[in-house]
Amino acid sequence: MSGCGMSWENDGRNAYRHSRDHIEKRKTHCHKYNNTKNNHTKGMGVLLIMNNSMKLMLEMSQGSKLFVCQGDITKLDVDCIVNAANRSLLGGGGVDGAIHRAAGPGLLQECRTLHGCETGQAKITKGYNLKATYVIHTVGPVYSGKTKDAELLANCYWNSLELAQEHGVRSIAFPAISTGVYGYPKKAAAAIVVETVQQWMKEHEAYVIEVILCGFDRQTCELYEQFLS
Ligand code: APR
Repeated sequence: MSGCGMSWENDGRNAYRHSRDHIEKRKTHCHKYNNTKNNHTKGMGVLLIMNNSMKLMLEMSQGSKLFVCQGDITKLDVDCIVNAANRSLLGGGGVDGAIHRAAGPGLLQECRTLHGCETGQAKITKGYNLKATYVIHTVGPVYSGKTKDAELLANCYWNSLELAQEHGVRSIAFPAISTGVYGYPKKAAAAIVVETVQQWMKEHEAYVIEVILCGFDRQTCELYEQFLS
C-alpha cells in the first residue's frame, strides 16, 4: 500500500480516491473522521492509510463526514468558511481579521448591507478573493460562565449549518468560535461543537455535507479529536 493516491476496489465500488491535488488543496494537517459515532452514516466503510503527516480515509460510500484540520481557515478549498465575527459584522482581529484580509474589501462592503448580527445567529456573504464561495458570519458568545453561553455557542454552529444547507453548501469549515478574544474555555467549547454538529448531521441524514473543524492550534485539534473519538 503506497499511501494516498492509491486506488481501491471494494465490493464492486471504487473508493473515492484522495488524489495528491486534492491533498495539496487542503494544505493543512488534516485528520479526517467519518462521523459514524451515531451510526447514522449507514453502510459507511473506511480504510485508514497513513501518508507522511496526514491520516486520511478512503471513503467507500456517500455520507456526511466530520473532519478535524489544523491550519489557516482562509486557505481551505471548501464551499464555505465560517467567520467568528462580532455583532457589527464590520471586521475585527483574530480569524475575523484574517478572513477579511484574505477576502478583500468586497467582503466588508457586503457586510455593511447586513446591518449586524445577533449573538448565536448567522448571515451569509460571498467569499470574494477566498477559495470558498461563501462566508457565513456568526457571532459567538463572550464567555460569562452563565449556562446561556453553551446554548448561544451551539446556536452558532446549528444556525450556520442550517444556512449552509439553504445555499446548497457541501463542504464547510468552522474556526473554534468564541475560544479566542471571547474567552470561551477550549475544552468546554470543543465538547459543545462536536455534540452540536453530530446532532445536526443526525437530524439531517439526507443532506450530505463535509464539516471541517479547523483548529488554529494543536490543542484545539486534540480536544476535537478527544470528543470525536
Ligand atoms: N484560521 C483558523 N482559526 C483561526 C485563525 C485562522 N486564520 N485565526 C485565529 N483563529 C482561531 C483562534 O486561534 C481561536 O481558536 O479562531 C478561534 C477564534 O478566535 P477569535 O478570532 O479571537 O474569535 P472569538 O474568540 O470568537 O472572538 C470574536 O474577536 O476578532 C474579533 O471581530 C472579532 O470581536 C470579534 C471577536
